[in-house]
Amino acid sequence: MACPAKFWMENVVPDAAEHGKNILIRLYKEDPAALGFFPKYKDIPVSELGSNADVKEQGAVVVKALGELLKLKGQHESQLHAMAESHKNTYKIPVEYFPKIFKITDAYLQEKVGAAYAAIQAAMNVAFDQIADGLKTQYQTV
Ligand code: HEM
Repeated sequence: MACPAKFWMENVVPDAAEHGKNILIRLYKEDPAALGFFPKYKDIPVSELGSNADVKEQGAVVVKALGELLKLKGQHESQLHAMAESHKNTYKIPVEYFPKIFKITDAYLQEKVGAAYAAIQAAMNVAFDQIADGLKTQYQTV
C-alpha cells in the first residue's frame, strides 16, 4: 500500500526548508493576499523572498507539521484542533486557504519529484482532502 507519510519523510522532509519555501512562494504568487498574513516578511516583494531566511524557516515548519499529520493517518483530530485554533483565531487565516495550499503542493510535487510522486499522488490527495476537511470541521468549533 502506497504510504503518503513515507513518501513525505523520504522525499520532502530532507529538504524541508527549500521545498516549503517554494510552496509558500507559489501560494503568495497565486494569491498575493496570502502574503499579508505573515508579519515577518509581508512587506517584502515576492520576487525577493527566495533568499529570505524567515520564509525558509516557515517553509520548514509547514513541511514538518504536515509530515506529522500524514503519519497520523487520519487519526489527527486533536492536532487539527490545535492547528485550527491558531490559524483561525491567532493568524486569522480563512479556511479556504488550506485546499488552496494543498492544490499548489500537489502541482509542485508533480513537477519537482515526478515519477516517485506519480506512484503516491492519488493517496496523497486523499490525505490532503482529509486534512482540509478536518480543518474545516475544526474551524467550526474553535
Ligand atoms: C499545509 C498546511 C499548513 C500547515 C501544516 C501549517 C502549519 C503551521 C505551524 C505548525 C505553524 C506554527 C505553530 C502554530 O502556531 O500552529 C504555523 C504558523 C503560521 N501559519 Fe500555517 N500551516 C499551514 C498552512 C497555512 C496557510 C495556508 C497560511 C496562510 C495563508 C498559514 C499561515 C500561518 C501564519 C501566519 C503562521 C504564523 C507565522 C509566524 O510565526 O509569523 N498557514 N503554521
